[in-house]
Amino acid sequence: MNPSHKSITWHHPSVSKLERYQLNGHNSCTLWFTGLSGSGKSTLAFSLEKELLTRGIRSYVLDGDNIRHGLNSDLSFSEQDRRENIRRIGEVSKLFVDAGLFVLSAFISPHTQDREMVRSLFQPGEFLEVYVKCSLEECEYRDPKGLYKKARRGDIHHFTGISARYEVPVQPDILIDTETSGVQESVQFIIKQLEERNIL
Ligand code: PPS
Repeated sequence: MNPSHKSITWHHPSVSKLERYQLNGHNSCTLWFTGLSGSGKSTLAFSLEKELLTRGIRSYVLDGDNIRHGLNSDLSFSEQDRRENIRRIGEVSKLFVDAGLFVLSAFISPHTQDREMVRSLFQPGEFLEVYVKCSLEECEYRDPKGLYKKARRGDIHHFTGISARYEVPVQPDILIDTETSGVQESVQFIIKQLEERNIL
């Protein structure tokens, strides 16, 4: 434990999550999108955000590439830094859920242990892991940013799927196969899953 914890105090908020829920007229939760680079995490998260908006639900996308431009611009892709990346975003997601939002967090988050660490921050029903499934072959074929090509040439080190591991979720809450499902179909599938779980 950080020694400074001994000299800091927890202030209990005066507005509860239930009061925010009543104000917004909807629940809050984190949908955690995990998958290889190019699997479709961001596309799916941003499309879902649009759909939630049209339904009057306040949501926000936390996206790996974007967050690494700002909050986490000090982090590399070493195992240790990826863990710190995920830890910070887990904490940010928790704050956003507390603030009454639907958080759509799209990070490769390649390690099971790190994803489970994030899950443990939440109450049951507040966190759903969405595995965005797509084979390495297809991601490499799509290669939207040309990163796989660079990784194969050795210009990028520790690239997930090529020179760094990705641990496939064993029991994701929701599985989306982007090789067989279109974006809108997948968005509607997620909405249905949220409705069935009484989250929406
Ligand atoms: S992680 O593993 O969760 O910490 O990664 P994340 O924060 O989601 O960032 C992934 C995006 O960073 C780009 N990029 C890399 N990805 C994987 N490995 C290496 N070495 C790497 N270097 C840069 C890449 O654009 C990823 O974006 P997505 O959207 O996943 O393709």
